[in-house]
Amino acid sequence: SDLSRKPPLTVRLCEPRGFCAGVDRAIQIVVLALKKYGAPVYVRHEIVHNRYVVEGLKNMGAVFVEELDDVPADGQPVVFSAHGVPKSVPAAAEARQLLYLDATCPLVSKVHKQAMRHVRLGRHVLLIGHRGHPEVIGTMGQLPEGTVSLIETEADVATFVPPEGMELGFVTQTTLSVEDTAGIIAALQAKFPTLQHPSTESICYATTNRQDAVKAAAPGADLFLIVGAPNSSNSRRLVEVAERAGAQASALVEGAKDIPWEGIVAGGTIAVSAGASAPEVLVDELFSAFRERFDVRIELTRTAEENERFLVMRDLRDLPLTVD
Ligand code: F3S
Repeated sequence: SDLSRKPPLTVRLCEPRGFCAGVDRAIQIVVLALKKYGAPVYVRHEIVHNRYVVEGLKNMGAVFVEELDDVPADGQPVVFSAHGVPKSVPAAAEARQLLYLDATCPLVSKVHKQAMRHVRLGRHVLLIGHRGHPEVIGTMGQLPEGTVSLIETEADVATFVPPEGMELGFVTQTTLSVEDTAGIIAALQAKFPTLQHPSTESICYATTNRQDAVKAAAPGADLFLIVGAPNSSNSRRLVEVAERAGAQASALVEGAKDIPWEGIVAGGTIAVSAGASAPEVLVDELFSAFRERFDVRIELTRTAEENERFLVMRDLRDLPLTVD
């Protein structure tokens, strides 16, 4: 037999995976702002939670800052990240006459509106999400002091004491696990039977679709690799979903350097997906690494067709096309 022949490996590849319409739009906004205003264009917070994307934009002249105070001069262009920002941030930008471009995903803005609607109708808002995540900070920052409480777990439901005599309404972070969220909502409804839903689902299509594909590919996989950053909420949820849906093991990898080779055996089956902020080039990098060691057979696990696209703001859309 041929000794140079590589051992076989089956790789289930999820579709949809990777970039969502909100991430794609946010990146386009930074790129177009650089074209329109030239470097530097400031970006408040990582535009999307992916180091590869952030480094690429830095090389083009974007400067990442955590707070507006870190933008050195007034009158500069500054982009707000896809995760959304508290209302105080555009207000502060206006006060400094910064040219701000809000790259908040339209589906995050929708959750902001759902939350504000609860408040308008006299309800106390329960935000189901993860403390400290920028989307949670942004959503809470849409609402007046004291009108919103964060619920992270079913245990939080048990201990939550609502303000006297107020009706309750909930919204959720867009990138949670569909199952975990359903559990928390069921616990809330059991405790507060008059709990009001948001006007539409808060978890976004991209989160739901990526989780569905992972659920379909997970059963019987020796290892499930999710390409994504450690601070990417939706990517971390995919790792949890993979294990719960029957993968032997699952891991978050930023690129080929993180592949846990000890979990990949000749003749085995692994599965791969990518979070909404992970570029496809990183998935390609994984496959190149697999092919160096194995004779790879790809099985596509396709559970939905996606054709969402979100337009950038008109100011940037109408830029004259250049030929570079
Ligand atoms: Fe938007 Fe969902 Fe992507 S909220 S940024 S479409 S993960």
